[in-house]
Amino acid sequence: MKRRDFMKTPLLVAGAAALGKAGMAAGLLGTGTAQAAVQAGIPDIALNNGMKIPQLGLGTWTLAEDTIPSIRAAIEAGYRLFDTAQAYGNEKQVWEGIKQSGIARKDVFITSKIWTNSMRNPPQKPSIDKSIELLGGEYIDLFMIHWPVKERIRETWETMEEYVRKGLIKSIGFSNFNPHHIEALLKYAKVKPVVNQIEIHPYHTQEQNVAATRGYGIAVESWSPLARGKVLDDPTLAAIGKKYGKSVAQVTLRWHIQRGLITIPRANNPAYIAENIRIFDFELSKEDMTAISALNKNDRMADPDNFSW
Ligand SMILES: NC(=O)c1ccc[n+]([C@@H]2O[C@H](COP(=O)([O-])OP(=O)(O)OC[C@H]3O[C@@H](n4cnc5c(N)ncnc54)[C@H](OP(=O)(O)O)[C@@H]3O)[C@@H](O)[C@H]2O)c1
Repeated sequence: MKRRDFMKTPLLVAGAAALGKAGMAAGLLGTGTAQAAVQAGIPDIALNNGMKIPQLGLGTWTLAEDTIPSIRAAIEAGYRLFDTAQAYGNEKQVWEGIKQSGIARKDVFITSKIWTNSMRNPPQKPSIDKSIELLGGEYIDLFMIHWPVKERIRETWETMEEYVRKGLIKSIGFSNFNPHHIEALLKYAKVKPVVNQIEIHPYHTQEQNVAATRGYGIAVESWSPLARGKVLDDPTLAAIGKKYGKSVAQVTLRWHIQRGLITIPRANNPAYIAENIRIFDFELSKEDMTAISALNKNDRMADPDNFSW
């Protein structure tokens, strides 16, 4: 597909009606642990290269020694997408948790990211080789540039493209890109980016970046979807949750899902892991979606145009 064409590719939310998605999920997954995922009803998002990514996954930043049990609990609950990064120092443990669960490699979607240090200290290949090795030695489903280290984006992207050609990375994308970063990269990218993972939560809704990213045919994934717990005491969210018999975390995650975002809440408490996946059996009204979006105060935790790491 030419660049011109993939930029026009509509992003399909495959199976908007989550429960109706169950049959399709059954087709994608192996038999053993498929049941949990089918029951969870997690829809897929279609990426612009034909791959599908589960719309809800588990974030693993700071899980540290809890990584293995959390991954196992998440797989048991029905999660199939796992987000790690070189910087989290737990790629090995993410893979170990997946292995211990007994699930087939093809039934999970693993994402990782190249850290700023690896970008700044070329060649970048040894760090990418190490990520692949730590994550099972076969392939990574989606590998991203973690932060836009301006002077190294092109070199890193072109290196990542080589891994796609070799089949060691199935798809590539980036994180924390503003529209101007995307526009610059698309001028030379030969492999199309599939995902932009950015900070999104009710206090930082990022409408403009979401629209611009999608305008390029790139799916958007929200990091810190619960604002690292900051939204959990919000009275508006609590009142909305009460109406549906759901927790603040659940209505917040549902808001992400209904915006068509891929989202990766982190939890190491098994009860939270289970709670966060029970969001596909209700639907927020248009008014409640609007009320949650209205909580925006552009309260971000990090600035992609000005970071010190
Ligand atoms: N690309 C990037 O630059 C970037 C940056 C930040 C994060 N991320 C990714 O995004 C993931 C998620 O972001 P995050 O870890 O910063 O924060 P988050 O998912 O917004 O929030 C995590 C916090 O919420 C709590 N929590 C989760 N579910 C809950 C529930 N149902 N009820 C009450 N509390 C709940 C967790 O508690 P417990 O710890 O007690 O379970 C934890 O303290 C990360 O793990 C990482 O994979 C990416």
